[in-house]
Amino acid sequence: MKTRICGTGSALPKRKVTNDDLSKILDTSDEWIRSRTGICARHLAVEESLTSLAADAAKEALDEAKINPRELDLILAATLSADHLVPSLSCELQRELGAENAAAFDINAACSGFLFALQTADVYIKSGQYQKILVVGGEILSRLMDWNDRSTCVLFGDGAGAAVVLPDETSGILGSVQGSDGARGEALLCENRKNNNPYIANGTGLSYVSMNGQEVYKFAVRTVPKAILEAIKKAGLAIEEIDLFVLHQANIRIIESVSKRLKVPMEKFPTNLESCGNISAGSVPILLDHINKKGMLHKGDHIVLAGFGAGLTWGASVLTW
Ligand code: COA
Repeated sequence: MKTRICGTGSALPKRKVTNDDLSKILDTSDEWIRSRTGICARHLAVEESLTSLAADAAKEALDEAKINPRELDLILAATLSADHLVPSLSCELQRELGAENAAAFDINAACSGFLFALQTADVYIKSGQYQKILVVGGEILSRLMDWNDRSTCVLFGDGAGAAVVLPDETSGILGSVQGSDGARGEALLCENRKNNNPYIANGTGLSYVSMNGQEVYKFAVRTVPKAILEAIKKAGLAIEEIDLFVLHQANIRIIESVSKRLKVPMEKFPTNLESCGNISAGSVPILLDHINKKGMLHKGDHIVLAGFGAGLTWGASVLTW
């Protein structure tokens, strides 16, 4: 039995913010951001909550899969920026969708989150415990940014993507890998609120995302090609048989480096980071939905999905569409 993606969906906030817009509030420029990252714009949540974005994405995915929310057995949401610490995004989504028969929990593996959630869904389906699973990845990262730190806040965006997965005899996930390196976690960090119990002095305060960009860059270009090759091997395929590589949208230079290391042309690496920036756990499912809606996915195609990011974490899956 395989786990097949039968529907996708995505939602971006209405407010689009270009590099030029940012250069009006920060000491930065379109040229700097574009030449180092490939990013030209991102969407930032002003009116939306993460729950509303995730619900819009989920409804599209459920429609395409022709699944009623009441049929769902499980909702898995990957995020590090849920609207509340509790209830989880997945439970809020369950309420919004009226998916009253589903169990629901969140997964935090940062930018690899959608891959970890998808692979968790795969294990549930293979075990026979659940059949109809909604997997969501989404972020409102703009709430975690230090808007005075031009080296991080220009990179990220907000949005949510969703996939409905069902058991299938022939098509679906063929092989997956996942990994973590907590020893190098400080490279990309966001502290929770400080402990303010009565026995700690100066306990209050909030912190924002901080990043050693060059460390994260080196980690990504070394780890991602290896993870992809391992997943393709597990799937029993050769790299030439892969039609598309749907990678986490952090930086065009990282994607170009992966393409070069794998000796695969850039045409096989669709991107939307130009208009979306890095949406962490939302990045892979949003791009998957965008290329699905453009008609770029055909039955029988072999697709690689790969994520990498804070933790540090990484994950890759190979599937037949
Ligand atoms: N606009 C203008 N200048 C900026 C800037 C901005 N938004 N952000 C940083 N700078 C400046 C720095 O202050 C530095 O100036 P200095 O040399 O006078 O000190 C200069 O640009 C170079 O900064 P540096 O950090 O060396 O640039 P870089 O070439 O390493 O590029 C990143 C920075 C963040 C784009 C790059 O390291 C990167 O993409 N890393 C991966 C990050 C990532 O994708 N993380 C998420 C993974 S999930």
